[in-house]
Amino acid sequence: MSEHQNHVGARRRPLRQAPAIQALLLFVLGLIGANLIDVLCQRMGLSAFSPLEISLLHGVLAALAARLRRMAVWWWVILLVFPLAALGVGRLHLPSWLFLAVFLFMLLLFWSTFRSQVPFYPSGQAAWDAVAGLLPADRAIRFLDIGSGLGGAVLDLARRRPESEFIGIEIAPLPWLVSRLRAALGRHRCRFVRGDYLLLDFADYDVIFAYLSPAAMVALWRKARAEMRPGSLLLSYEFHIPGATPDVVIQPEGGGPVLHGWRM
Ligand SMILES: C[S@@+](CC[C@H](N)C(=O)[O-])C[C@H]1O[C@@H](n2cnc3c(N)ncnc32)[C@H](O)[C@@H]1O
Repeated sequence: MSEHQNHVGARRRPLRQAPAIQALLLFVLGLIGANLIDVLCQRMGLSAFSPLEISLLHGVLAALAARLRRMAVWWWVILLVFPLAALGVGRLHLPSWLFLAVFLFMLLLFWSTFRSQVPFYPSGQAAWDAVAGLLPADRAIRFLDIGSGLGGAVLDLARRRPESEFIGIEIAPLPWLVSRLRAALGRHRCRFVRGDYLLLDFADYDVIFAYLSPAAMVALWRKARAEMRPGSLLLSYEFHIPGATPDVVIQPEGGGPVLHGWRM
């Protein structure tokens, strides 16, 4: 697979602008603020806050700061609840290795989601059926699933179209490994690459399938417009592209989110 570095896709936001990094900073600021207020109150002769009071204050300060920074509403909620949740979990006296194990599992599953805002979440048979119906039937094609997760879409479509080439690219190690194993065990004619789709040249593909998130769609459209060949097809499950009217919108049988398609 050619992996051209290109200027369209390689542009990334600085790490410090990632909402998760900002939320982490606000979490720390909230913790410092709550403890400072506690110390000030004690200097004024009041009794020290209990751990529960400190956690409540910590959450409120962090959530207020997120509100002031106009972060999305779920960040306020997370920041408000997290200190209390941490206090509660601390009281369970769980073994410390469990925290490390859960952290490593989450890291391998979600990897750069804190930056991309595209979490792992698999599509299903209804989506794959809808995609299969839009693939050009008169010739062999090169198909790419950008962010291929556990590989379900690529494996399913490769089974239906053995003459064509199906490739998935996935940035998170754990889903990628699972998709590699599934392909190896099933002896399917498809490939899974671990990497960043932003570094691929979209001109190499006839059909590109995306199941990403609203945060990724504007950059995806810019890259697709700059690189995809005339006659090729961009598909996005669930998420539309602001300002780009799709050429096809398909409601998969059995309901669920719609599949959008843009012919280049
Ligand atoms: C919503 S899941 C979709 C999985 C799969 N396409 C499906 O339909 O089941 C999105 C996936 O994109 C991956 N991803 C996010 N940003 C990526 C990037 N820049 N390059 C490659 N994969 C990425 C995530 O790790 C996640 O597994």
